[in-house]
Amino acid sequence: MTTDANNKIEMVRFLPKLSYSTDQLQKELEDLLKAYPLKRGRLNLTHRKNETYQPYDNLFQSYDYEAQKKRFDEEEFSEFAEELKSTVFYKIYDDIREFSPMPLGRARLLEIEPRQCLHLHRDTNMRYHIALKTNPESFLIFPPAECIHLPVDGRVYLANTTASHTAMNAGHSPRLHYVISTGQRNV
Ligand SMILES: [Fe+2]
Repeated sequence: MTTDANNKIEMVRFLPKLSYSTDQLQKELEDLLKAYPLKRGRLNLTHRKNETYQPYDNLFQSYDYEAQKKRFDEEEFSEFAEELKSTVFYKIYDDIREFSPMPLGRARLLEIEPRQCLHLHRDTNMRYHIALKTNPESFLIFPPAECIHLPVDGRVYLANTTASHTAMNAGHSPRLHYVISTGQRNV
């Protein structure tokens, strides 16, 4: 990631070229959730090649911390659901794919309920985040120094989730992000 004038590592930065209408995002989110309601706070938008689209699965993190081994490679989930290709969510995915230095992995809607917090962890790869619903008390936290609130502003943020982090919703309403995982950096 880049560093600022104080030589502090930026854990999250937005992509200046990409910006979407928040009104359109809210409207399309409503339509999407009518067709595919979140289950256990999640909804998949991508699937593996040669597999059919499964909106819901039991996969969580690509790395199994207890067994200390990878469950799968993010790049396996290279196909966007055909039935969702007319949505703004595909437009965002396609725009990011256009110039992302890393190949894209899973695209998902991920919710954190009020007063919930993830365990501290590192992901195998970085993630793009677009906030769809939030409250001022929701944060991505990179101990010990960074505590970042992503607003619902139609922006795409790249988070260095390979660094130790958690996500916390200390507010009173759900936090919902559109999250696109990345694979290994192209060389
Ligand atoms: Fe994470």
